[in-house]
Amino acid sequence: MARLIYSAAASLDGFIAGPGGDMGWLTAYAGEPNPAAERLLADTGALLVGRRTHDGDDPNRDTDAEGAFGGQYDGPAVVLTHRPPATAPPGTVFTTDLHSAVAAAREAAGDRAVVILGADVAAQCLEAGLLDEVFVLVVPVLLGDGTPMFPRRPGASPVRLESIADDTPHWYRVVR
Ligand SMILES: NC(=O)c1ccc[n+]([C@@H]2O[C@H](COP(=O)([O-])OP(=O)(O)OC[C@H]3O[C@@H](n4cnc5c(N)ncnc54)[C@H](OP(=O)(O)O)[C@@H]3O)[C@@H](O)[C@H]2O)c1
Repeated sequence: MARLIYSAAASLDGFIAGPGGDMGWLTAYAGEPNPAAERLLADTGALLVGRRTHDGDDPNRDTDAEGAFGGQYDGPAVVLTHRPPATAPPGTVFTTDLHSAVAAAREAAGDRAVVILGADVAAQCLEAGLLDEVFVLVVPVLLGDGTPMFPRRPGASPVRLESIADDTPHWYRVVR
């Protein structure tokens, strides 16, 4: 069954987007070579995307690098939303509940992985015991505010993570 991997670039203080969903802070760092990220891209069979990510800012807007993985990903995407549009672009499916979305993304991914884009969706997958891995590229910037990589989980128990890659510091398996 396809692994579910939450992948994000995050500021050192733990934000994946700035205030109001601003992604401009990432533009200066986009495109830097990263073998682990290239490996993740090669292993990505489908994206599971939150609606705010789908509709949101892109650090590479209006360039060839616009889109997931700096514009290099062109496979299937499942977008989770309460407001599915009447029509969907080719390769994109809109779903309205988490478990259907995960099932559709896994089906589309085949024997490769599902990469989750969006902190809210990733947190729900974690809460539901569905999240297998976390891959974070830490960017040397302090945003101070915005969308946290993981939302607060008041009263929650710690979730242990174990490192699974030698060539990048923040690629982890979720210990269950
Ligand atoms: N730094 C990075 O690498 C990176 C990567 C990805 C995204 N981002 C940024 O992160 C921000 C988005 O993250 P986010 O955590 O705020 O939101 P998100 O996870 O992208 O999307 C959340 C939205 O998805 C829909 N949704 C979530 N769970 C659902 C469910 N169970 N059933 C139906 N619909 C559901 C809802 O949209 P509706 O109710 O409106 O339909 C919800 O508001 C954006 O600013 C984006 O640009 C950064």
